[in-house]
Formats: sequence, structure tokens, C-alpha cells
Amino acid sequence: MLTKLAKYRFPALIAAAFFVCNAGAQTSVTEVRAPAESSIPAGPRGAAIQEGRKLMNETHQRLPKNVGNGLNCTNCHLAGGATANASPWVGIWGVFPEYRARSGKLISLQERINDCFERSMNGKPLPYTSTEMTNILAYMQWLSTGVPTGVSVAGRGFGAIDQKLKADPNHGKQVYADKCASCHGADGAGMKNGEHGYTFPPLWGADSFNDGAGMARTYTAAAFVKHNMPLGQGGTLTDQEAVDVSEFFTHQPRPVYPGKSHDWPLGDKPKDARS
Ligand code: HEC
Ligand code: HEC
Repeated sequence: MLTKLAKYRFPALIAAAFFVCNAGAQTSVTEVRAPAESSIPAGPRGAAIQEGRKLMNETHQRLPKNVGNGLNCTNCHLAGGATANASPWVGIWGVFPEYRARSGKLISLQERINDCFERSMNGKPLPYTSTEMTNILAYMQWLSTGVPTGVSVAGRGFGAIDQKLKADPNHGKQVYADKCASCHGADGAGMKNGEHGYTFPPLWGADSFNDGAGMARTYTAAAFVKHNMPLGQGGTLTDQEAVDVSEFFTHQPRPVYPGKSHDWPLGDKPKDARS
């Protein structure tokens, strides 16, 4: 009788346990996609997510004390940070703190965000406990919904580029005139949108990222350009064209970041880092 009961109950228990586990588990996300809008909750957390998103899309206008150029975060982290190979923020929540060779140590997500404020935005860091920083974190956490902790999504960063190609800035100048100047301007200054930032963001000059930014490095810029530019025609340039045009525009005059002399403190500075 006992054996009979055990035989009967055991599979039922397993089935029940399986059902419970499955019902509790979220679908695992390992590629870049934004969660459904409807998943933004009501209440304070939802308000923070919405506010954080606005700060990322309208950074220049909304954070004038922290932004020293004409850019918004999403000029590079395209479509709200939800585009593969345009350094998406999907999944970023679960991978920091992370070791960064440029810093020579483990850094928090707040530190990483401030790195872009100081370099890409040529501006000033946000206090770690500010409402603005908390809202940005809430937005990035929401974007990372369903991505397991510790997992880098496919499409993190800017995608592959052939690092062995030698850059030819003269050819790059020609590529720029042919394929970029129509939007970013013959002088790289972009096209302004009234008082509030740019319709087409600048690629060099006073309103651009500084020379300590990742985008000021030829091969980092080339990976971004190869996969995302000209806008709407990502993937149409060859690796050589992307490297040449990036060598050209990254080395035009731009704001100087004095702190870059402290970068790569362990001596593993990459060859395209600016000095
Ligand atoms: C001019 C282009 C540009 C702008 C504008 C920009 N970033 Fe970045 N961002 C980069 C680059 C380039 C990297 C990667 C650098 C590297 O790994 O060398 C990056 C990396 C990051 C990362 C880490 C991504 C990862 O996968 O580790 C975060 C987070 C980030 N940026 C946040 C921001 C925020 C917040 C803003 C606005 C305050 C911003 N960025 C503005 C170019 C930009
Ligand atoms: C059709 C117009 C258009 C063309 C052509 C174009 N871009 Fe862009 N580019 C944009 C826009 C718009 C953005 C900002 C995207 C956003 O905010 O969603 C951008 C962003 C960028 C950025 C990051 C933001 C910044 O200002 O630093 C770089 C770098 C860039 N483009 C380089 C290039 C290069 C190099 C070419 C030529 C190979 C090119 N683009 C061609 C419209 C264009």
C-alpha cells in the first residue's frame, strides 16, 4: 500500500514542483530588446523610469550643469539605449561592478555613467545619491528586465571591426565628404535645432565629445560608425572606410580632457587611445 502510494505520489510531486518553478521564472532575455511599455509600473518606480528615460534622450536640455557640449546620451546609445551594436544599456544592470582597464579597477554602474558625463558629454559627474542618478539607474534597470545577472547580451558594445587595418585619414576625409557631411556638416558642427541641442549632432568642435571619450578612439568610433552610420544605413561601409573616416573625424579639433593622463594606470593603454 505504501509503495503504491509513493509510486503514485512521486511523479505528481515532481510535476507540481516543476509547475511552481516554471510559473515563478521569467523569460530569460539574452539579446537586445526593450521591455514592453506596459511593464512600466504605476507609482514612484514607474515615474523614476520615465524620468530617467527623458534624461537620457534630452540630456543637453535637462542637465545643463552636467553637460558641457551639445549632445544627448542617446546620440550614441541609439533608440534609448535599446539598439544592438550601439552600446545598448539592456542588461547593463547585471554586469556592473565590472573591471575596466581604463580605470585599472572594478567600477560601479554609477562610475561608468559618470565616465560618459565627463568625457562623451564633456561635463561634470552627477552626485551618486542625486535623484537624477537614481532615475537613470531605474531606467537602466527596467531596460535590463529579464536579462540574467552577470550576462552580457549579444550586441553589447559596438560590434566587431578589423583592428589590424591601417587608417588612412586622407581617404577618410573623402568618405566624410561623400557619406557624412550631408547631415553632420562640412565643418563637423552638425545642425542645430533652435536653442535645444541638435537635429544632427556635431562630430568635432566645441560642442562635441572630448579627447578622453571612447568615441575619440579610432577603432571604437569605427565600430560604432560601421554598424550604425550613415544613420539608417548601418553596415554599408567597409571596415576600411569606417576606420579611415573615424581616424579623420576623431582627430579634428575637440575639447581636451585633462584627466586622461591618469587612464590605463596599469600600463595597458591601447594604441588608439589619445594622449
Ligand atoms: C559620443 C558618444 C557617447 C555619448 C554621447 C555617450 N556615450 Fe556612453 N559610451 C560611449 C562609448 C564609446 C562607450 C564604450 C567605451 C569603451 O568601452 O571604450 C560608452 C559606454 C557607456 C556605458 C557602458 C556600456 C557597457 O556595455 O559597458 C554606459 C552605462 C554609458 N556609456 C552611459 C552613458 C550615459 C548615461 C550617457 C549620457 C550621460 C552617455 N553614455 C553618453 C559613447 C557615448
Ligand atoms: C542621414 C543623416 C546622417 C548621416 C548621413 C550620417 N549621420 Fe551620423 N548621426 C546622425 C544622427 C541623427 C545621429 C544621432 C542619432 C540619434 O540621436 O538617434 C548621428 C550620430 C552620429 C555619431 C554619434 C554622435 C556624435 O555626434 O558624436 C557619430 C560618431 C556619427 N553619427 C558619425 C557619422 C559618420 C562618420 C557618418 C558618415 C559615414 C555619419 N555619421 C553619417 C545622422 C547622420
